[in-house]
Amino acid sequence: MATEQTYIMIKPDGVQRGLTGEIIGRFERRGYKLVAMKLVHASQEHLEKHYADLKGKPFFPGLVKYMASGPVVAMVWEGKDVVKQGRALLGATNPLASAPGTIRGDFAIDVGRNICHGSDAVESAKKEIALWFGEQNPTINYTRAVDTWV
Ligand code: PPS
Repeated sequence: MATEQTYIMIKPDGVQRGLTGEIIGRFERRGYKLVAMKLVHASQEHLEKHYADLKGKPFFPGLVKYMASGPVVAMVWEGKDVVKQGRALLGATNPLASAPGTIRGDFAIDVGRNICHGSDAVESAKKEIALWFGEQNPTINYTRAVDTWV
């Protein structure tokens, strides 16, 4: 992997509320590059794998049910420090702790409807990209006209 990549997902509430374009636009305007994207209605089984680390948490069943309630937009974004900076664009997990100007700080008020997910580390990004897009070269390698200007 030449440049850092992260897994960003627009959750069912973000899709239903018509925030897909807004979220993609924020990553694009920051300078990050979209290298994979698909709309997926994930199964509970798939989501249990994605959130396996949270299996013991009291909110786990509700989280999986909510995530399986409609399609999500699964994406891979690429660029300098994108794991950390992507999380900064999303805002704090609890929207009430998210600063205005972040996605959650601008559009959400409930941790159970917090619009988007972002990998928390480079290693978890690799695992999540493999889970959602497959192990074999899941991303598209291309040059944008703006790449020399970002
Ligand atoms: S924890 O408890 O610290 O491990 O959890 P946290 O890192 O804050 O959040 C992990 C993911 O769980 C989601 N979450 C919740 N969903 C529904 N209800 C409640 N109460 C809740 N609390 C946390 C949170 O949005 C994180 O999901 P992702 O998709 O990673 O953002």
